[in-house]
Amino acid sequence: MNSPFDNQFKVPLDANKLSSLGFGTRSERRLSDLKNYFQNQERAEELIGEHDPVIYEVWELEYDKGGRGISLGTTTIYPGDVDGEFFFTRGHFHAKDDGDEVYIPLSGEGYLAVSTREGVSDLVALEVGLLYYVPGHLAHRTVNTGDSPFSFLCLWAPHIDHDYKTINESGFPELVFRSQEGIRVVKNPNYGK
Ligand SMILES: [Fe+2]
Repeated sequence: MNSPFDNQFKVPLDANKLSSLGFGTRSERRLSDLKNYFQNQERAEELIGEHDPVIYEVWELEYDKGGRGISLGTTTIYPGDVDGEFFFTRGHFHAKDDGDEVYIPLSGEGYLAVSTREGVSDLVALEVGLLYYVPGHLAHRTVNTGDSPFSFLCLWAPHIDHDYKTINESGFPELVFRSQEGIRVVKNPNYGK
């Protein structure tokens, strides 16, 4: 078959199994790909020099921009932190605010951070067994706050253009750190600078 979208198909709700299927693309992001995103740059550089950990892996089955199908993908964020700041995905806007997205947690523990373009933000715990609907005008980033890999499935409209540049330049308004109570959320002092 030319494309999985040409036929009916069914896939397991399991990030490891999905990423091992014969279709879709896999990619990984290491700390060196995200070093500018973490608050303690010095510590990030040290960790990159030591073993440059994989922060997260992505499997995507992206429909082309024709508009008929639904794109889907899984992300697995590994447990860990940079000087207490939990591992996270880069986060992005959808370029024209015109495409919503569904998040379905599969395993592990984590949060979804969302933000408007004006920096009004929220942090939502993602629970396995619940579905999360993310309106297209909100930037979104996920954070692994547990001790095991945190995996989730996303579904999005194919016409979405992902805008990573805005978050790369402005940062996210809130940052999530490890603390004795579990997590500590702090305002990003460099947000928008
Ligand atoms: Fe998205």
